[in-house]
Amino acid sequence: MELIFILPILAAILLFLLCVRIVIYRLYAHPLSGFPGPRLAAATFFYEFYYDVIKKGMYIWEIERMHEQYGPIVRINPRELHIKDPYYYDDIHAGSSRKRNRDPKYAVAFGAPYSLVGTINHDHHRLRRSFIQNYFSKRSVTSLTPYIFEKIDQLLRRFEYAHENSAVLHLQLDFASLTADVITQYCYGWSYGYLDDPKNATRNDLVDAVNGLMTGFHINRFFPFLITIFRTAPPGVVRFLQPHMGDLLDLMARLREQAKETLANMKSEERTEKKEETIFDALVGPTVPAEEKTVDRLVDESALLIGAGTETTARSIAVSMFHVMNNKDIGRKLLAELKTVLEKPTSKANLTELEQLPYLTGVVNEGLRLSYGMTARLARISPIEPMFYKDWVIPAGTPISQSVYFVHMDPTLFPEPKKFDPERWIRAEEEGQHLTRFIVSFTKGSKQCLGMNLAYAEIYMTLAHVLRRFDFEPHETTVENISVHREMGVGYPKDMNFGVKAKVVSVLEE
Ligand code: HEM
Repeated sequence: MELIFILPILAAILLFLLCVRIVIYRLYAHPLSGFPGPRLAAATFFYEFYYDVIKKGMYIWEIERMHEQYGPIVRINPRELHIKDPYYYDDIHAGSSRKRNRDPKYAVAFGAPYSLVGTINHDHHRLRRSFIQNYFSKRSVTSLTPYIFEKIDQLLRRFEYAHENSAVLHLQLDFASLTADVITQYCYGWSYGYLDDPKNATRNDLVDAVNGLMTGFHINRFFPFLITIFRTAPPGVVRFLQPHMGDLLDLMARLREQAKETLANMKSEERTEKKEETIFDALVGPTVPAEEKTVDRLVDESALLIGAGTETTARSIAVSMFHVMNNKDIGRKLLAELKTVLEKPTSKANLTELEQLPYLTGVVNEGLRLSYGMTARLARISPIEPMFYKDWVIPAGTPISQSVYFVHMDPTLFPEPKKFDPERWIRAEEEGQHLTRFIVSFTKGSKQCLGMNLAYAEIYMTLAHVLRRFDFEPHETTVENISVHREMGVGYPKDMNFGVKAKVVSVLEE
């Protein structure tokens, strides 16, 4: 036979033998080979690929099934363990005294390698986080509340306009307009101005862009080079292929200019005296090492803030709104409580007053619980020390995960977990049960969401002032439209169209 035919056959045989060797190693010699789980999942990544990429975000249900069959700890792919036990969540997402690296296979999917979520190493992440930690402290966020009030007033005008014109509201987009305007003004020193025009109710390309990125979340996990192509392709090409990325591309270009300007103007002797005004100032502050002061770092970190804080917060508010509109009894109880601090529909209450209200707190917690934050597994790795779960010793270097979905849906913590029940939080408080420990939408530990204080402020203030002023009803929206059918980094319904549509029934007079 000619060499030209023999060579490919030999290559195929060699490849086949190599695959067999890898599979045998994974099944019998790998440090995780003694852990329970399906042999197919331990042998190959195709199992997960099939459910998450081909069937679009369905591996979460397969993981649920595996736990029913094998117990609380399962090897879900050749290198990762999933532990379905809410009491173990804090061990996985430990505080900064215990080292936890991010799982590089997950970090890459966010498409921002120079940002906090792209930083794998525990110590490096800790250093980077220290530059901007204070920027999002409770104190800093409290000083921002006048601006949040200003944006809420614009939102209320938008809803008044919708009422006068019997318009259908896309609540999630309206809330995303508010959160995007707040974050841009606070972090970048200029506002998107999405809420400036009360008539322009359904535009928010940023939400489309985030949804577009999440649609590709699992594909990017398996094929990270696609992210590199996206990041390096000319903007015109990306805009042509993905028209909904328009606002995101404009944002990235603007942030790049701002980053270059900041670095060009940087004079360290001036910086020591200068007050931090924007996130860029914080990122080039006097204590930041020179190698961290690069354009890519500044762009990725600043872009992460709007990417992480816009849709997540809006989604949580929208989920609470849906259930309050959909259940008149909840609506009545909430309104009665709001009247204790907001005497008139146009009154204002500060964040501290609102945080004292038990029923509103129940509504906020249920919204966070049933919007989940990120359903992605967000595995952590203990790089040096092994971890212990029951009788199991988990080797150092193993990615260990637990999706927030399983914590929030645990019926032993939250009986009838799908039910939106604000009073479960009041009952828990009375019984001295610390249920808030199991709200893990922001994850926990050293890498938990940095914008948590800002998110809580926006959620409390928006829900209170909007629901004190207007009565809403859902429009062509059922609980199916906000339920998790697919796990694509965040949860989506079957048709991928997460959203809450509503109409203003009346403007409250008293
Ligand atoms: C309800 C609203 C929000 C939810 C559910 C949420 C959820 C999350 C989650 C799940 C993470 C990943 C944490 C991890 O890997 O363990 C995260 C990270 C992050 N979020 Fe949020 N987020 C929200 C709002 C915000 C806001 C308003 C901002 C800021 C403006 C923000 C900024 C960030 C940043 C900077 C990180 C990276 C933190 C780090 O790696 O140290 N988030 N968020």
